[in-house]
Amino acid sequence: MSARPDPAPHLPGGSAGGPILQLTASPRGTESVSRRFGDLVLARLLARSPGAGTITRDLVAAPPPLVDDAFAGAIIGPPDPDHPALAGSEVLIRELESASAVVIATPMHNYGVPAVLKAWVDQIVRIHRTFASTPAGKQGLLADRPVYLVVASGGWFTQPSPIGTPPQPDFLTPYLRAVLGTIGLRTLHVFALEGVTRGAEARAMAFDAATIRLDSLLPQP
Ligand SMILES: Cc1cc2nc3c(=O)[nH]c(=O)nc-3n(C[C@H](O)[C@H](O)[C@H](O)COP(=O)(O)O)c2cc1C
Repeated sequence: MSARPDPAPHLPGGSAGGPILQLTASPRGTESVSRRFGDLVLARLLARSPGAGTITRDLVAAPPPLVDDAFAGAIIGPPDPDHPALAGSEVLIRELESASAVVIATPMHNYGVPAVLKAWVDQIVRIHRTFASTPAGKQGLLADRPVYLVVASGGWFTQPSPIGTPPQPDFLTPYLRAVLGTIGLRTLHVFALEGVTRGAEARAMAFDAATIRLDSLLPQP
């Protein structure tokens, strides 16, 4: 992960007026469909909250570290935000805490999240820090804020394809709903752009459908 200065102060439980956190997880650069639609969601959010600012985290250009022995040991001890093995995790959690909204733009890879997005999840879903384990179950420690999840997939997973091929399994959206809910982020809006490797027409149809949803969810100001 690139060593970036902490972009925002530690604001536990408060983020109104904070920047919009944009996460991208596609390896396909400017060709990425999820990134292109994620940029539209971000632009709409900024139009509705001028001056909010943006924190951009390209998880492919700067992948979060994989969980190692030091990290696994550090998270189970008493919370110590200054623990060296948790430094990268603290940066990612603090920028999430500071955000007024989050845009996650990701491809579907093998029915689930790309490895770099899983690596981010493992850094930000942390016992004693972003969730507590209680007799009633895990309880989120972050204040809720909207998360806009843009998923691009080569095939279809919310419905059969236009020629009737049954929908694929989807471990991506239920997984992110579960882990984000675990830390307190329960307001998840999903934009699924499906069939985007099936030609320009299918891509255009996916964009049109997602744009209609965007217009109804976040009307132009
Ligand atoms: C490693 C890999 C795995 C993929 N797995 C799936 C899959 O399980 N289901 C699917 O519909 N498309 C799958 N695809 C296709 C991508 O989801 C599709 O190309 C999509 O456009 C990627 O979004 P992007 O343009 O933002 O990168 C896969 C692509 C790659 C490279």
